[in-house]
Amino acid sequence: MDEKGNYDYFTIKEINEEPKTVENSLKEKENVEKIVSQLGDIERICFVACGTSYHASLVGKYLIEELIGIPTEVIIASEFAHSVNTLTKNTLSVFISQSGETADSLEALKLAKEHCKTLSIVNVANSTLANEVNYTINTFAGSEIGIAATKSYISQLICIYLFVAYLTKNNNENDGNEIFERIMNSLDNLKQFIEEILPIEEEIKEIAEKYKDVNSFFFLARGLSYPTAMEGSLKLKEISYIHAESYAGGEFRHGPIALIEKGVPVVVVIPKDKDNEMYNDYDKSLRVLKEVKSRGGDVIAIGRCDDEKLKSESTELICLNEKIDPIISPLTYVVPLQLLAFHISLAKGLDPDNPKNLTKCVAND
Ligand code: BG6
Repeated sequence: MDEKGNYDYFTIKEINEEPKTVENSLKEKENVEKIVSQLGDIERICFVACGTSYHASLVGKYLIEELIGIPTEVIIASEFAHSVNTLTKNTLSVFISQSGETADSLEALKLAKEHCKTLSIVNVANSTLANEVNYTINTFAGSEIGIAATKSYISQLICIYLFVAYLTKNNNENDGNEIFERIMNSLDNLKQFIEEILPIEEEIKEIAEKYKDVNSFFFLARGLSYPTAMEGSLKLKEISYIHAESYAGGEFRHGPIALIEKGVPVVVVIPKDKDNEMYNDYDKSLRVLKEVKSRGGDVIAIGRCDDEKLKSESTELICLNEKIDPIISPLTYVVPLQLLAFHISLAKGLDPDNPKNLTKCVAND
């Protein structure tokens, strides 16, 4: 039986287990390498998932298309039937699921198996999704009791990064090895980075208290950080019941920015890219941040601790170690958002472990 140990809730216990999750998920390295070596010719990749697993899939899309160039789609499992005619024998469908039993994903798998190769990335080893595909990767997050996914999201991303790293190594000789080494080195440092992030929970409690009674939140980011904004928005909705929306930073200016007025909180996930890199579109994100501020919005920025420009432009700055390679920002910048959602839920007197209307797995249609 899972116990809460020194924690009052499974959700915060499982967020604090994330450094250990990093260690456990990295054990899949050899299995991922073996699977990638067996895939053969892949002309297109199609991720299929729901909820938080869908956001993990989007990180995979950005990485694969930016680093390798294989056309990659992410399809919500319940909408998959409308895309079946695009699948070919050289398509790889990748099913991401914590439970491995989500009805929408299982239904999509039945269709995919008739047309293309299937791979699953799941947290439950003997789940249906794990047993019914050509290849399966286990995330080794351990059992996750909190209804809202936290450590399982980190574990899914680690397996996706491993998949991308070995795919990169196999796909383009020279750059491939350089990017492979860069991702693997970043993953080797990830446990320590997350351990450093967790203590910022104290300052996040104050931000949670300040914004616990607002009617809505916006989460903005660009590029590789956009799925992180989506995940932060979902976390907040799931456990605090505050309406939240996420937008790609550039898209926010095409309409939704009209909703900004004094005091509306806007979380901006804005890792600073290395010179000549635009994985997270830092400069363009800063422009959107300034536009939000000019309209009276409260900007809660998640950025680098040495980013003086960001500090001067933000209402609140939740800052992370500048040594974190921006290529793994999805694995680190999401942790403050998980903590923010958890503490807003507590500040509202809610039970983050068992949010109303939600279940850990929607196993029936
Ligand atoms: C929802 C859960 O029911 O299903 C989410 O509340 C989860 O946390 C989603 O992301 C997908 O579940 P799974 O098990 O397929 O990842």
